[in-house]
Amino acid sequence: MYILKSLGVLALATSVLAQNVTYCPGAGVCYAVNVPAATASSGSGDIYFQISGPSTMSWIGLGQGSQMTGSNIFMIYANAAGTNVTLSPRLGTGNSQPSADTTTEVTLLSGSGISNNMMVANVRCSNCNSWSGGSMSLTSSSSAWIWAYKAGSAVSSDSVSASVSQHTEYGDTTLNLQNAAGGSSSNPFTTAVASTTSSSSSSTSSSSDSNSDSTTDDGGEPSKLDMVIMAHAVLAPITFVLFFPIGAMIIRLLSFKGVVWLHAGWMVTTYIIVLGAMGMGVWIAVMTQQLDTYHSIIGLVVVGALLLQPVSGITHHLLYKKTGGANVATYPHIWWGRAVVTLGIINGGFGLKLSGNTTKGEVAYAIVASVMWVLWMVVIVFSFAKGRHTAEKDAIYAVEMRNGNSSTERMRYPASIQQGSSIRESYGRNGSNEWPKAQDSRRYR
Ligand code: HEM
Ligand SMILES: *[C@@H]1O[C@H](CO)[C@@H](O)[C@H](O)[C@H]1NC(C)=O
Ligand SMILES: *[C@@H]1O[C@H](CO)[C@@H](O)[C@H](O)[C@H]1NC(C)=O
Repeated sequence: MYILKSLGVLALATSVLAQNVTYCPGAGVCYAVNVPAATASSGSGDIYFQISGPSTMSWIGLGQGSQMTGSNIFMIYANAAGTNVTLSPRLGTGNSQPSADTTTEVTLLSGSGISNNMMVANVRCSNCNSWSGGSMSLTSSSSAWIWAYKAGSAVSSDSVSASVSQHTEYGDTTLNLQNAAGGSSSNPFTTAVASTTSSSSSSTSSSSDSNSDSTTDDGGEPSKLDMVIMAHAVLAPITFVLFFPIGAMIIRLLSFKGVVWLHAGWMVTTYIIVLGAMGMGVWIAVMTQQLDTYHSIIGLVVVGALLLQPVSGITHHLLYKKTGGANVATYPHIWWGRAVVTLGIINGGFGLKLSGNTTKGEVAYAIVASVMWVLWMVVIVFSFAKGRHTAEKDAIYAVEMRNGNSSTERMRYPASIQQGSSIRESYGRNGSNEWPKAQDSRRYR
């Protein structure tokens, strides 16, 4: 079970991060594509890609389509200052120099530049699912792309329609965009440059960090947003799938004086962690404009609804001390708690869907969450059934109650409604208590 849990949480943590597919044809030239979760689920919207290669290249190009004619091409070359690249969107018009296309909505993003003998362009394209002459399914498992580059002197132009000479190398490839899905609609390529290290290409590695002098960084660090998403995606499921059910089972399974305070402390601590996870969630939602999604709304409702639990819990406890039985706060506390925590568990699934998760991550979550939830329900039913069979011990218990020996404060289910009035009377102080408390005498070791 433990291994299963950790596995689930791990799968959860890694799969919410931005994914990318990379292709490196050689000579240190690499291309990486990311389709953010929101785009992957709706089929249109922003995509991100990265074009990188040695600054000894005159220009490097990537195009959507299977041939030059009609393809949506992006070229990068050194700008006039030689510090950054010029991003030039073009339309393939045949086997000749493509002409600049001003209708393509592309933006050069941070992390782009020329340093460490590398030129890098991190690009967002907002309308790359169709262009004049073609279209591309942004969820295709075999999307067609062309690539080309030319080794040679720098173009050194700020113009998007600079004249360039013909490629020295070119080719086509297909990319599985389903493996590129994920992430939160913000530049996923700020620190990492796609590298050839694990590709079949034999070219030299182009791995380097475009923002610093370090050349040892292979994978790149996740952005701050990715780190917060990761923390949220670990903390929130742990609290709802593990900690809340465990805290509920504590009060059903354990019996010692003061178990109520273990439950109360455990639950309140968990709630504080939940507040932290919710804070992160709100920040993420604001950053990525997802506050109006089901997951965000239900999350806020769940966390707000849970605020009643400490109140009803304490109320139950105080009234219980007075009357020794179920009271006006008992069943609201129990059933509201069960219902809201269950909704929170389900909402974790919505969160996974939102992050454009791999089905693997979703399945892992579903398995761990349902195993835990079923275990919780089994414990409830089990203690319900046990309550029944201890009905005949009510009399003994009633005496202990009167002597102030009540210790575990766990309401039993209506085990002894059918019991004679003598027992009910023995509760004395609480004539209105509908269900006398059945209690196993073993609990008073
Ligand atoms: C965020 C905080 C809390 C949550 C989410 C919570 C949740 C729950 C849940 C779900 C149950 C039912 C257990 C089951 O499934 O059978 C329960 C039972 C109980 N809780 Fe809490 N609880 C919280 C805080 C507290 C506090 C602060 C107290 C008291 C000081 C308290 C006292 C109790 C007691 C005495 C029971 C057993 C009731 C009975 O069966 O008679 N809880 N709680
Ligand atoms: C290159 O230009 C982009 C877009 O303006 C910018 O975000 C990036 O920081 C620039 N890079 C350098 C090294 O100046
Ligand atoms: C693409 O993803 C892999 C792992 O999924 C990562 O190691 C690599 O750095 C990413 N590439 C870019 C350019 O972000």
